[in-house]
Amino acid sequence: MKVSIIGSGDVGQALARGLIELGHNVMIGTRDVNKKDLHWVKKHPKEKISVGSYTESADFGEFAILAVAWNASDNVLTVIKPELSGKVVIDVTNPLIFNDDKPPELAVGHNISAGEMVQQTLSDSHVIKTLNIINHKNMVNPKYKQGKPVMFLCGNNSSAKTFVKQILIEIGWEDIQDIGGIKKSRLLEPLCLLWIEYGVVNDTWNHSFSVLNS
Ligand SMILES: NC(=O)c1ccc[n+]([C@@H]2O[C@H](COP(=O)([O-])OP(=O)(O)OC[C@H]3O[C@@H](n4cnc5c(N)ncnc54)[C@H](OP(=O)(O)O)[C@@H]3O)[C@@H](O)[C@H]2O)c1
Repeated sequence: MKVSIIGSGDVGQALARGLIELGHNVMIGTRDVNKKDLHWVKKHPKEKISVGSYTESADFGEFAILAVAWNASDNVLTVIKPELSGKVVIDVTNPLIFNDDKPPELAVGHNISAGEMVQQTLSDSHVIKTLNIINHKNMVNPKYKQGKPVMFLCGNNSSAKTFVKQILIEIGWEDIQDIGGIKKSRLLEPLCLLWIEYGVVNDTWNHSFSVLNS
């Protein structure tokens, strides 16, 4: 399939690499199409992977992955909303505020979440929140000796959730749990803070959550 990757950071690049290996065609969206970080893209055929503006990328895909910094999200989405109309949008963002001396905090929570705000802005798209509780390095083919990691997803449209579940299976997830509507992003986004806290305390960034059930 043709995939819009809206964002050229670690997440956008990790998912782009994983998806092209699986045979998908990808366009990464960025403000800077000559970004140094993206030079590896040129090693692949242009029809497999390319780099474009946010609008070009959003227009390219049959579905999209949103992976921009939270403070940029609203502006970017307002611009590309028409190109994403009717499409499934996988929202990987976390609404993080970074502080100099303290761990990051959530910019929104309790009464509203980033996932809901993205869905409100992209009112003609089907937004599914997932993959926000794992390091970009483990988003594709997550392998752990201790067992299977869990990935939660939430969103309002059930066929969009079925579609995203299939994409997650393709990139190597086995334990995928649908936790309800997009409002459940209020639970998934704080989970990212717990993931960060565990990383700080244990000095690791490869960890993942799993759910055990007897
Ligand atoms: N890193 C992880 O392991 C991880 C894991 C889970 C979730 N997340 C979430 O996923 C999202 C992406 O994270 P990331 O680590 O890949 O990269 P990031 O540094 O959070 O975001 C990079 C992207 O944001 C864009 N951006 C930054 N400021 C902008 C602005 N003012 N206007 C327009 N675009 C702007 C960058 O544009 P350019 O392309 O022009 O540089 C780039 O495309 C974030 O919301 C993050 O919280 C990250």
